[in-house]
Amino acid sequence: MALAIVLLIVIIGSVAFNWLSPWWFTDIASNWGNIDTTVFITFWVCGIVFVAVCLFMTYCVWKFRHKEGGRADYEPENSRLEWWLTVVTTIGVVAMLAPGLVVWDDYVNVPPDAQEFEVLAKQWTWAFRFPGEDGKLGTVDTTNIGMDNPFGMNMDDPNGADDVLVPASKVHLPKDQPVKVWLRSIDVLHDFFVPEFRAKMDAVPGMVTYFWFEPTKVGEYEILCAELCGVGHFSMRGRVQIDTQEDFDAWLDAQPTWAEMQAGITPKSYSAMAMRGRDVAETNGCFACHTLDGSVVVGPTWQGLWGSTRTMTDGSEVVVDGAYIDESVRNPAVKVVEGFAPVMIPYDLSEEDMQALIEYLREETGAEEPMSADRGEDAVPADAVALNEAAASNQGLAVLNAQGG
Ligand code: CUA
Repeated sequence: MALAIVLLIVIIGSVAFNWLSPWWFTDIASNWGNIDTTVFITFWVCGIVFVAVCLFMTYCVWKFRHKEGGRADYEPENSRLEWWLTVVTTIGVVAMLAPGLVVWDDYVNVPPDAQEFEVLAKQWTWAFRFPGEDGKLGTVDTTNIGMDNPFGMNMDDPNGADDVLVPASKVHLPKDQPVKVWLRSIDVLHDFFVPEFRAKMDAVPGMVTYFWFEPTKVGEYEILCAELCGVGHFSMRGRVQIDTQEDFDAWLDAQPTWAEMQAGITPKSYSAMAMRGRDVAETNGCFACHTLDGSVVVGPTWQGLWGSTRTMTDGSEVVVDGAYIDESVRNPAVKVVEGFAPVMIPYDLSEEDMQALIEYLREETGAEEPMSADRGEDAVPADAVALNEAAASNQGLAVLNAQGG
């Protein structure tokens, strides 16, 4: 009897929790109300089945409780009951799955008036690309990706020149305008997710995926990565600002195009050794965590690194030289820059690669030959300034959680 009462309390408590719980959906800010509807249908079907099964169990616990001299009936088959249960179960499963098929059909059939933009995912940041005035995204190739070409743009594709590149984790989109989102990843599996839009999609290395949505509310929302993608997964966040069409146009106009970006990048001359060092840094993925523009992604920036004095977590100070770089690559946990956690893994480079990397850092970040961002104000083209600002706005979002190098 006591057990039956406990079961009854569990049923009432579970149902009450569903209505009284403070943890509920965020306010929806896109057209995907029918995705919420499919979730509610699933809640209702599961809820009704849960209550029915538990009530039946409660009844049985009470009705068939132990009685002196009681005997059980043996009834191995009951085809009427089996038919009845099969039909009810089938209806329940169809009710949960069929609406999803209808919504999915909508989800991948993009309205013809949708504007396009691209989301580029990498460990552990987001970047964005808009098609520019011609309305066409230029073609890309992963093998083109490098420091001066983070999106892997094809140099000889004229459609790419006016593409607007946003190498920061914050992007703007217009309200009441359907957008088609193209997704690419340059390293591992990520997933672009904005909870208020109720829509998400994997970014898969080696292929391009897409979905669409229409923002319906002006405001700023958080972009999350919804796929475990490495130690920095939790910090792979961004922001999306939904603007009126007017505000959005003004914002987009202020962003540099690919052609402007290229004009703003002054090629630097490196020794052959430093060029090899730069390859070492690229192939080992150093730039996923260390930037050259002063922004903090995961680890400390490399801007102005060589010869600078850096404070470690234990309060000691280190002047950056070859020996320090060597140690920080091979044994990153020994000296950790203040404000960062020891999350970098050791890299076992060959002696030649290590020397090349050190030479690259000396030439790239040393004071004798200042890098482009350090030149006098008037020597820097306006676009480069805008670009640096865009990159710097990344800073506040990246979680300062990494090891110094
Ligand atoms: Cu990217 Cu998790």
